Amino acid sequence: QLDPLPPITPEFVSVLNKVCEQCYTDFAPDELEVSVREHILQDLETFVRRQFAGARLQLFGSSKNGFGFRQSDLDICMVLEGQDDGACIHIIESLARQLKKHPGLKNILPITTAKVPIVKFVHVRTSLEGDISLYNTLALHNTHLLASYAAIDRRVKILCYVMKVFAKMCDIGDASRGSLSSYAYTLMVLFFLQQRNPPIIPVLQEIYDGKKKPEVLVDGWNVYFFDDLKTLPSRWPEFGKNTETVGELWLGLLRFYTEDFDFREHVVCIRQQCRLTTFNKQWTSKYIVIEDPFDLNHNLGAGLSRKMTNFIMKAFINGRTVFGTPIKAFPPIYPSQME
Ligand code: GTP
Ligand code: MG
Repeated sequence: QLDPLPPITPEFVSVLNKVCEQCYTDFAPDELEVSVREHILQDLETFVRRQFAGARLQLFGSSKNGFGFRQSDLDICMVLEGQDDGACIHIIESLARQLKKHPGLKNILPITTAKVPIVKFVHVRTSLEGDISLYNTLALHNTHLLASYAAIDRRVKILCYVMKVFAKMCDIGDASRGSLSSYAYTLMVLFFLQQRNPPIIPVLQEIYDGKKKPEVLVDGWNVYFFDDLKTLPSRWPEFGKNTETVGELWLGLLRFYTEDFDFREHVVCIRQQCRLTTFNKQWTSKYIVIEDPFDLNHNLGAGLSRKMTNFIMKAFINGRTVFGTPIKAFPPIYPSQME
């Protein structure tokens, strides 16, 4: 029931490339903004240590994974040396009480009922929102994994930005309102890039020396992946073979998820090259199934209602038509027409 797409002209590919590049240049933070984030983190760590002497704060999420926006939130993970994660809720509450005394922060809000308890805050001077979670160690590892993929090829970075902008514009990118998180969409982009022929990125979790995959256990999950990226060209035969442009890949991605990928049958899974089925995982009750690369019990699509699933699929179908239909150049807009 999909509209057939007209042939794509080289001129239109160049328009698509420009749109994709523009997304990246418009939304990526510059060096100054990156250093402001580090500065806020340092200041917070010093402040928090007045009450929690052994506390260590670390940024994760899009401040560190290579796909941050200028106004992306500050995701911070706190670890207390010499303590396990037993008294999590108690610590979050007392952390919130302490942060309320910080003059540079406002809107302090502890959320202790969520799967991962957090304290939310707003940094007054920059208006950046932030949250501090405790012992969110897997998130530190998945951040490092995403950052490694981003470092392999510039097109990875650009496409993940385009995907995030697309999700925000279509109103399908806010997990707190029942849709999918940025993290989930990033996994969808990475999966597509692994499945492309030839692939743009490898499966880093499947590259290792010897016969057996090394085990690096965190919270009971194996977080091993190949991160010696300098040597990747000699370790991965497909390196550099795909020469498609970002514009072609973006349209390719929209077509992949609307024409090729069978959501009913398969899982979006970036930890293995071989297709994983929803049946294998016993995740057949949901249409969009996205497996976390480390926490294999976690389906990022688990919270989607049927209505939201349809809404997301429609956004992809419309996106395919919009980005797949060449248009004549727009007439110039003059300032007087803009009111
Ligand atoms: P923006 O904030 O939208 O720019 O992107 P983000 O990647 O920072 O997303 P978000 O703030 O929602 O999440 C922060 C980080 O938490 C992600 O990058 C992941 O590292 C981690 N994360 C988010 N959702 C999940 C999840 O469902 N499972 C796990 N294991 N980690 C998650
Ligand atoms: Mg974030």
